[in-house]
Amino acid sequence: MKSVEIFVLFLLLPIVETGVFDFFSGLFDNDKLLPFDSEEFKKDLRKSLYGQHIASKKILKAVSGFMKDPNPPKPLVLSLHGPSGVGKTYVTKIIARNIYQMGQESKHVHTFSATYHFPHKKQMESAMYESQLKQWIHGNVSSFPHSMFIFDETEKMNPQLIESIKPFLDYMPHIDGVSFRKAIFIFLSNAGQNGIINFALDFWKKGKVREEIQINTEEMEMLVYEHILIEKSSGDSQSCLLYQHLVDHIIPFLPLELRHVQACVLAEMSSLNVIDLDVAHTVAKEMSYYPPEEKIFSVRGCKSIRQKLMLHIDERDII
Ligand SMILES: Nc1ncnc2c1ncn2[C@@H]1O[C@H](COP(=O)(O)OP(=O)(O)OP(=O)(O)O)[C@@H](O)[C@H]1O
Ligand SMILES: *[C@@H]1O[C@H](CO)[C@@H](O)[C@H](O)[C@H]1NC(C)=O
Ligand SMILES: [Mg+2]
Repeated sequence: MKSVEIFVLFLLLPIVETGVFDFFSGLFDNDKLLPFDSEEFKKDLRKSLYGQHIASKKILKAVSGFMKDPNPPKPLVLSLHGPSGVGKTYVTKIIARNIYQMGQESKHVHTFSATYHFPHKKQMESAMYESQLKQWIHGNVSSFPHSMFIFDETEKMNPQLIESIKPFLDYMPHIDGVSFRKAIFIFLSNAGQNGIINFALDFWKKGKVREEIQINTEEMEMLVYEHILIEKSSGDSQSCLLYQHLVDHIIPFLPLELRHVQACVLAEMSSLNVIDLDVAHTVAKEMSYYPPEEKIFSVRGCKSIRQKLMLHIDERDII
């Protein structure tokens, strides 16, 4: 054989071995896992997520530990709690961009919103949601073990639906031949927000530094349970109770203060290439704060900052 032929054969060998399709899709697939770098992840959290020292620390530890474990015993299950607009959904994007090449756009990231995906509470629809959701999770994990599932508005989900996915979250070696140990499940909810807010408020009233707030797991569980006991509204409470003992980490998100809102405005400004500290301060000041007298925490967190900001900047300034 001429050396050219050997060379061609050498080139073709992997194609023959892995199958033409797999070979080419492997070559061009840019929707894979990133090599996980916990230092990068730490930097990203520090740079992007404001005022959430407890959540940052817990998420960094939980996700890094899980991603570095070549053989995790069970899927990672996180439950994020706190008021609106404080970074719960946002942090799922940060997690995704540190795990997948395509970040939150990755086809391995699946987001389900209770009111959008499972709007009906009737028996028949619920049964349909259950079987469909189970199929999706099973199907996606079997083709990509490191799939991520995000459930938004968990408190509005039918408790039965949570019940039906319980086996996936547990220490189960296999379900119909598929292992779920590398999957990530993240539940987002406002459940327990009043407990968290009061906790932060008490801290503030005692004149203590916010960054010193520590909420341990038991306290956090108490805060969430407290909410369940106070608001005994049907599904809400039960769903919380149900996934309580399936989650690995309950993660509190604190209400945001003026300085954090200001940081959000600045981040938004820098993405538009217009930085102006005075404007940032003005925009942050325009948000509403509670409680009525003290006005410490932003009612909407950092939500709708961009819209507020647009009223203050001249479009000609945007490069
Ligand atoms: N802690 C934060 N640090 C930096 N940016 C933030 C933070 N909180 C919120 N933001 C900004 O505000 C936007 C809205 O926040 P996000 O969607 O994460 O709120 P949420 O906590 O999920 O609220 P909800 O409970 O209403 O869903 C984010 O996209 C982000 O740009
Ligand atoms: C994966 O999940 C998506 C929903 O996010 C669904 O549309 C798709 O059918 C699922 N894939 C499989 C193989 O089940
Ligand atoms: Mg959200």
